[in-house]
Amino acid sequence: MSNNFPSLFSPIQIKKLALKNRITMAPLFLGYANPDGSVSSLILDHYREMAASGVSMVVVENVGIDPFGTGSPFTLRIDEERFLFGLSGLAKTIHQQGALAILQINHAGRYAYRPEKIAPSSFETYGAVSREMTEEDIERVIRDFAISASRVKEAGFDGVELHGGTGYLLVQFLSPRTNKRTDTYGGSLENRMRFPLRVVAEVLKAVGPDFPVGYRFLADEWQPDGLHLEETTLFARELEQRGLAYLSVMAGTYDSFFLPEYIEEEKKEGYMVRFAKGIKEAVSHIPIITAGRINTPELANRIIEEKQADLIGLARVLLADPLWPKKAQQILTEPTTPCEPTCSLCMKRIAGGKPVFCSQWDRNRQKGFLLRIGEKETKE
Ligand SMILES: Cc1cc2nc3c(=O)[nH]c(=O)nc-3n(C[C@H](O)[C@H](O)[C@H](O)COP(=O)(O)O)c2cc1C
Repeated sequence: MSNNFPSLFSPIQIKKLALKNRITMAPLFLGYANPDGSVSSLILDHYREMAASGVSMVVVENVGIDPFGTGSPFTLRIDEERFLFGLSGLAKTIHQQGALAILQINHAGRYAYRPEKIAPSSFETYGAVSREMTEEDIERVIRDFAISASRVKEAGFDGVELHGGTGYLLVQFLSPRTNKRTDTYGGSLENRMRFPLRVVAEVLKAVGPDFPVGYRFLADEWQPDGLHLEETTLFARELEQRGLAYLSVMAGTYDSFFLPEYIEEEKKEGYMVRFAKGIKEAVSHIPIITAGRINTPELANRIIEEKQADLIGLARVLLADPLWPKKAQQILTEPTTPCEPTCSLCMKRIAGGKPVFCSQWDRNRQKGFLLRIGEKETKE
């Protein structure tokens, strides 16, 4: 155990899961799945490295519960039995490296990349208008979440995380900005919470009371007419009451990620910690994960010590430096390599439908990666 960062390296219990330290991998979609959504060797090698980094828990990137509900091509899927084999191998790979394995499940709603998009209300997104979900759609998607969650358990993961962040379907129902329904799923906060809370209830029923269910939690939509802490703190309390395992707090959606003020704020270390703190203060005991440019162990330790959050989530930070946890623990003596704030290579690669590599990797690693995916080196 490190003496320099005692809070960061203190153990914590999440339901039945014993975490050896407070460092987790936050979900990070990199476009590594096979074109049919199955687990590829690229995925296995990537998660082997992430799990070997010394994090206590890896939360695997968003996996589609519906082939028409994935946000990008090359996204993992769990909507059919046939995906179980690869996903079991993924859980095993993470466990072999000594980390706990959680799988995040998602429906992208209006952000789905295929032309036919469903959402709580008809809403224009990148020039395409989503279709308002019927009662039948609502029942089907709730069922899909529940069936997918039971597959996560069957595949041998230690828990499932519901993707209620980034502006995907669960948020689209919660948000007054995107939910314009006039039935029992729209209008008041109580009504807007109904769909995500029904998903939670059915998922809990499907996996049983002992299987940890976490929630990627949007604390603030970063839009004047969107969700803010006044409402999301109330939603957080509802989730806590229902016995969820943790809330992994984030802020912003695809509608805000490209706003100049978001781009500026996002360059700062710990830019989402204040949202995690706001949620932590509103709940009583549910563990809170915070992410967002937590580039140094000093900052991470302070966040835990000052009780702004209970756990740290590293996404790009861990990709940029897969040795971050070992350096923090002083198993290695070099300083951590930060995720470069002015670089958006990962986002650009995803937007271009190409597997992600990191500008902070050394030249040989970058070259090896491009060779492996059969891509010629170009200036990005
Ligand atoms: C390329 C990319 C992919 C991401 N994929 C996911 C995802 O699949 N699920 C999710 O909840 N968050 C996702 N996120 C958000 C991260 O989990 C994290 O909250 C954010 O990147 C801030 O942490 P970081 O500075 O360590 O990257 C993604 C972010 C990026 C940049």
